[in-house]
Amino acid sequence: MSEPKPSLIPEASHGDRMEELRRISEEAQAGGGPERREREHQAGKLTARERIHLLLDEGTFEELDKFVRHRCVDFGMQEQRPAGDGFVTGFGRIDGRLVYVFAQDFTVFGGSLSETNAQKICKIMDLAMRSGAPVIGLNDSGGARIQEGVASLAGYADIFLRNTLASGVIPQISAIMGPCAGGAVYSPAITDFIFMTRDTSYMFVTGPDVIKTVTHEEVTKQELGGAMTHNATSGVAHFVSRDDADCLAMIRELMSFLPSNNLEDPPRRATSDSPARRDGSLNSLVPADPQKPYDMKDAIHSVVDDGFFFEVHEHYAKNLVVGFASLDGRPIGIVANQPAFLAGVLDINASVKGARFVRFCDAFNIPLVTFEDVPGFLPGTQQEFGGIIKHGAKLLFAFAEATVPKITVITRKAYGGAYCVMASKHIRTDANFAWPSAEIAVMGPESAVNIVHKRDLDKVPESDREKLRQEKIAEFRDRFANPFVAAERGYIDAVIEPADTRARIITALRALENKKDTNPRKKHGNIPL
Ligand code: HXC
Repeated sequence: MSEPKPSLIPEASHGDRMEELRRISEEAQAGGGPERREREHQAGKLTARERIHLLLDEGTFEELDKFVRHRCVDFGMQEQRPAGDGFVTGFGRIDGRLVYVFAQDFTVFGGSLSETNAQKICKIMDLAMRSGAPVIGLNDSGGARIQEGVASLAGYADIFLRNTLASGVIPQISAIMGPCAGGAVYSPAITDFIFMTRDTSYMFVTGPDVIKTVTHEEVTKQELGGAMTHNATSGVAHFVSRDDADCLAMIRELMSFLPSNNLEDPPRRATSDSPARRDGSLNSLVPADPQKPYDMKDAIHSVVDDGFFFEVHEHYAKNLVVGFASLDGRPIGIVANQPAFLAGVLDINASVKGARFVRFCDAFNIPLVTFEDVPGFLPGTQQEFGGIIKHGAKLLFAFAEATVPKITVITRKAYGGAYCVMASKHIRTDANFAWPSAEIAVMGPESAVNIVHKRDLDKVPESDREKLRQEKIAEFRDRFANPFVAAERGYIDAVIEPADTRARIITALRALENKKDTNPRKKHGNIPL
């Protein structure tokens, strides 16, 4: 038997090191101390570690860089060098799948970004890119660490670069769970989805005080950059949650629809919903009067697995509905005109909202299903001066460029340029269906008659004019406002009974499972920004 090898480190020293390890660990766990933690709880917020605990599968968090300390020696900072430096970074699992995560700890220097904790974030982003896993950032920060000056700004820029390079390669998710101000907003802005907690978060480039000095406007933080401001008005944020716990649960839900990276397909979802399920109520969803609204979400809920639709950007540009669902267990992205809001017209905000969603789905191999009922683009000087031409072109560009399986169902109106834009056959949509109620035309019968028959209408006495107008409208409706002219040309693959929509889409999706399509080789396109 060989002699046991003598330890290179004396026994006592082992004990000291173990003690030191425990002490540093506890120091990092403690963050800014019990008082500051309590202040966060009183404000309705969780701490960085509590958030990570809720976000990840139980017991899966592996922390990195707990031992990192900042190197700043100005403003007496050398006296306060907490382990971890206020950011918690590492990796763990959501539904068993690897994700990287960082959480800013507001209890340590207000969650401000130092040179060293910028390096911590960059480290996990680099690891995430190398292993093809999403990055989730839980933001709660006073911004650049003032004591560190340009070193902190450099740290931000290092993160922005990585956000940009990772875009379209791995999903990047941001949650704003406290302050997020100044240039710091640009990291979340580059990521794919922004969640905000209601009442406790805000984002702005310049705060109320600067605004008051420069423009004399008076505005509160919440009015300026609160969750509803960004969810409903600016469109910067995609989701609003009741509180921290709700936000983290929503992130887990979103992740269940996404692949880990751009080379994978999204994970299949368990469902017992029959692919052949019919829904007779869809046959009477579209009102007989073409001017009457109905709720397109009724069609969506009816068609998708288990009626479950995870809406994105719910409060912004409600005339277009976007979000995730699954069909036959396969995640899909849905883009739908909403006739119940502004008649489902396409305007600037709806176009931008739709374009960004389509590009996300295309980047991450998520098939697109489009439900169409669109009277056209919104007329008016506000829209034209605001650049509806270039913004509308974004949606057209995004649909045309997308190579994932694309399926469109026209439920009612498909008028004018909007017909072309909304995933028409001509821009490489694979399966185009129409309900019998579809009206595919250059414009609505009323407008068309007013233009085409203007001279005829002017010629008749005023008393007969309305009668003639109605006759011409009926004639136009018969001739053009139907799906059959487009179907005759093959622009529509099939006119289907609404009740069969789910089964027809699923059959098409199955047939497209191995779809391959590419775009010409180029550095990148030049989407009209
Ligand atoms: C260092 C900071 C800090 C910062 C807050 N703290 N922000 N320390 N750098 N940027 C510290 C505070 O000194 C305090 O420390 C603790 O965090 C909590 O801050 P409070 O002010 O007590 O909290 P609260 O009243 O809730 O106010 C939060 C706040 C406010 C609104 C975020 O702290 C604030 O206005 N901070 C400065 C924000 C800012 O202007 N940052 C720079 C933005 S420019 P103690 O020890 O007292 O607990 C920027 C550029 C990025 O970020 C550019 C990227 C390109």
